[in-house]
Amino acid sequence: MIDITNITEDQAKQQLEYLAKEIEKADIAYYQNDEPYLDDASYDRLRRLNDALEAKFPHLIRDDSPSKRVGAMVKSEFKKVELSVPMLSLADIFSEGELKDFIAGIKRFLNSSEDITFTSEPKMDGLSFSALYQNGIFVRGSTRGDGRIGEDITDNLKAIKGFPLFLNNKVPEIFEVRGEVFMSKKDFLALNQKNEAEHKKTFANPRNAAAGSLRQLDARITRERNLSFLVYTWGEVSEIRWKSQVEFLDYVKTLGFPVNPYNKVCRNDTELLESFESLMENRADLPYDIDGIVYKVNDLELQKRLGFLTRTPRWAIAHKFPAEQAITRLNNIRIQVGRTGALTPVADLEPINVGGVLVSHATLHNEDEIKRKDIRIGDMVVIQRAGDVIPQIVSVLTEKRTEMLPEFQFPTVCPECGAHAIREEDEAVRRCTGGLSCPAQAVERLKHFISREAFNIEGLGDKVIEDFYKEGIVKTPYDIFTLEERNRPADLFSNTPALNLENREGWGIKSVRKLFEAINKSKKISLQKFIYALGIRLVGTATAYLIAKHYHSFENFMNAMIAQDLQLLISIDGIGAAMAQDIVEFFKEQHNLEIIRNLLTVVSIEEFEGIANTSSEIFGKTLVFTGTLTTLTRSEAKSKALAFGAKVSGSVSTNTDYVVAGENAGSKLTKAQELGIKIISEEEFNQMTAQV
Ligand code: IVH
Repeated sequence: MIDITNITEDQAKQQLEYLAKEIEKADIAYYQNDEPYLDDASYDRLRRLNDALEAKFPHLIRDDSPSKRVGAMVKSEFKKVELSVPMLSLADIFSEGELKDFIAGIKRFLNSSEDITFTSEPKMDGLSFSALYQNGIFVRGSTRGDGRIGEDITDNLKAIKGFPLFLNNKVPEIFEVRGEVFMSKKDFLALNQKNEAEHKKTFANPRNAAAGSLRQLDARITRERNLSFLVYTWGEVSEIRWKSQVEFLDYVKTLGFPVNPYNKVCRNDTELLESFESLMENRADLPYDIDGIVYKVNDLELQKRLGFLTRTPRWAIAHKFPAEQAITRLNNIRIQVGRTGALTPVADLEPINVGGVLVSHATLHNEDEIKRKDIRIGDMVVIQRAGDVIPQIVSVLTEKRTEMLPEFQFPTVCPECGAHAIREEDEAVRRCTGGLSCPAQAVERLKHFISREAFNIEGLGDKVIEDFYKEGIVKTPYDIFTLEERNRPADLFSNTPALNLENREGWGIKSVRKLFEAINKSKKISLQKFIYALGIRLVGTATAYLIAKHYHSFENFMNAMIAQDLQLLISIDGIGAAMAQDIVEFFKEQHNLEIIRNLLTVVSIEEFEGIANTSSEIFGKTLVFTGTLTTLTRSEAKSKALAFGAKVSGSVSTNTDYVVAGENAGSKLTKAQELGIKIISEEEFNQMTAQV
């Protein structure tokens, strides 16, 4: 700790001001944003320093001193609230058939064949709340908690704009309304934008944002966020003055509570289904997220007769929308240019929550796909998300096209560099012919060059390389290796100023030194990694390995390619004509040759050392990988297997010797079991390939 023996009063005053601010910042980060940025020891140090200074200069204790705040600001839990009428949940259904069963069940229970009237209400995707009024005064707010015990959010509800604190005095003495607190899509996007700009945590969807804003121990934060709410049911009420759900909704509306304008009365199954279809279609246009529709028997007498199952009423049900699909607007079709010049269309979507994840982009695959599905900018589209894959556009709601939208014209020039973009016969992909003069291709190639399976330079990530490229600091792979020299302080005679990387935002002397160390370390590289790093089209790690194995040295390989001597290349099992063609084309490009020649002056490529261990158990064997590997990527595993003289195949057959089964292995594993093939774990595979 700082020695404060000789500190002057002025200095102490300054220090205390600084500490009050710092400690408050740390408290907010810790208690309210769940994002502590100080470790415990540093935080304690600040507090102890504050205490020591205050002990020495008691007259300097500030009004906002952290020592006065302990316990007030840092309450760590909400008060518990007992709900006299429990807050229940609803059973879910997902189809028309289930809806019919639900209605038939009700009729059977009531022994009635008459149509039953229901309300249909959008199922708000937010957080349910309960608000208790005594003699018209709001006295207590609660979350649902476990249904019987909730958390006290009285202050937080009070902090929501428009939340009624007083009702007219004619309401029942005890009057508890229930509904949902939510955040509109617009407010959610604005909040995320603001948080992003301030480097704060962003939320995955409006529901999380609403939860994070409402469940704040410090209600001042709730006040800063734009939350909305509406009412759809009641809890404890001393006098029930309505005979149906609709009458209740009308009643609370007259009291000034917002209710959903899309609530409807439906007199039979057909009307219920119609309301479902229509809401599902309009879902994207609603200003907030809904995840289905709630149907409730309208008549309270019937509700009473139907009663409850353990946790859900028999008189209501939630009809959920198919979870992973959503409808939204296609705002734009953007063309991305990849490392090999491939033009890939990407859909920019009006952001929407699909199964709990905010989706704003989808893949469009290629030109033909856009044509086949007749996708046009401005269309309302159905998007689908399955697991972690990039969302896709399933179909277009052509009937929603209100105006004439022009057909999408796929560009025939590269949007990044203006060079011709051509599509070879039999190819699905159109490519930019700009090569390395195309900035998009250049950046993607740089990213590939530094990637894990290639030069693997720690501290040099995609974002940094993008910035370096934009600023002209690194244009080609070779420039990475001159960074250190260019960063040295310029001398009098130099007309190029030093890069001063340590002055970049978020950098420092230490990180720059580390980066240079990593770059220097990467200069020594295996032949196969070097070949892979070049980024030749179709040449992945496995092919790079095969090339290394057959040519032994880069010199051999390059000379053969320049001489267009393909004999050896196409004789390699696993290298086809198309790949060979691409490789030769790569070496025909002057740009590429220049980069390689420059690189050869700084890197040292290790010669291929042959098969490491012919006595390895997998030498000469055929392996199949299946399932998720946890310690290796698929391509790492593959090149490791190849390095030990194994062949790697994509499918299981009687020729397979080993199946390496990772987590969640599926049909390949079953097939291997059926064929009696030896199955080994990732760990066993690692052991077999441990010795070099
Ligand atoms: S009524 C006993 N109406 O859905 C019935 N709930 O799965 C109580 N919800 O916890 C609920 N919109 O958070 C009802 N119009 C609506 C609703 C709705 C959303 C939520 C609510 C509830 C959950 C039940």
